[in-house]
Amino acid sequence: MLAETTATRPIPGASFGAELPGWRIAGDVPEIAMDGFRAALHRHRILLLRSVPNNPGALVAFSGRLGPLELHSASTATHPVHPEVFCVGNYEADGIRANFARGVEQWHADSSFRSVPSAASLFYGAIVPPVGGETWFLDATATWMALPAAMQARIEGLTAIHDIATLHAWNSRHTPGRPPLSEETRRRFPPQPQPLVRVHPVTGARSLFLCPAVISHIEGMSLAASAALIETLMAHATEERFLYRHAWQPGDLVAWDNRAVLHTATLFDHTKYTRLMFRTMIAG
Ligand SMILES: [Fe+2]
Repeated sequence: MLAETTATRPIPGASFGAELPGWRIAGDVPEIAMDGFRAALHRHRILLLRSVPNNPGALVAFSGRLGPLELHSASTATHPVHPEVFCVGNYEADGIRANFARGVEQWHADSSFRSVPSAASLFYGAIVPPVGGETWFLDATATWMALPAAMQARIEGLTAIHDIATLHAWNSRHTPGRPPLSEETRRRFPPQPQPLVRVHPVTGARSLFLCPAVISHIEGMSLAASAALIETLMAHATEERFLYRHAWQPGDLVAWDNRAVLHTATLFDHTKYTRLMFRTMIAG
């Protein structure tokens, strides 16, 4: 019922997600509006707010209303005043050293290497390039529902091992010169079993939990058989009908249900353009 109090409209060109026209995150957002935001997030999986003023403090406060915030595993790129904000892009000024990757990320859900991955992420475009630097989303619930019944039966109950070391090795191949994975990080995040098909704790919806650059293997399967199965599932999941490609405008804020969508980034010309994004993560 509360969701009906939140006005939404479809995002042009997207088969899922919704825009919340006229929303502001700063100031004292009433609790009933927050309830509506949460319900809309679970229902639409992606929420888009336009023309949000650049205010990292307000982003932290608003995100904190949705749940306890998760601190990023790489603290070097966090905001100097608001450590809950992870900075992404090639911006380096005002005490900010944003996390810059030269490789196109693979499809993933955030922090899948934690025992309880984050519930939601909020991503804000402070400075965005005119071309490139997009964020693409994949409706992981729709991809599950569209799988043939035989494949659903085959994969339900399988466990994938998500490993920060696998992710780190992948990142290092694409962005040479990264420091090695520290012993401390390795200790904090041991290989983590996750269901390949997960059930959303709020909506009960099943979805494909595929993170090709983070999954080392599927339990009980050889590396080759694991890779082949993941490749087959990814080929299905990345069909155009399940995707939404977000081209950023400055001031866009996108919130996504990290337990129902996968996302990835595209490259941009970092020799020409500056990019600065702020991200907060709601712990699961
Ligand atoms: Fe991510």
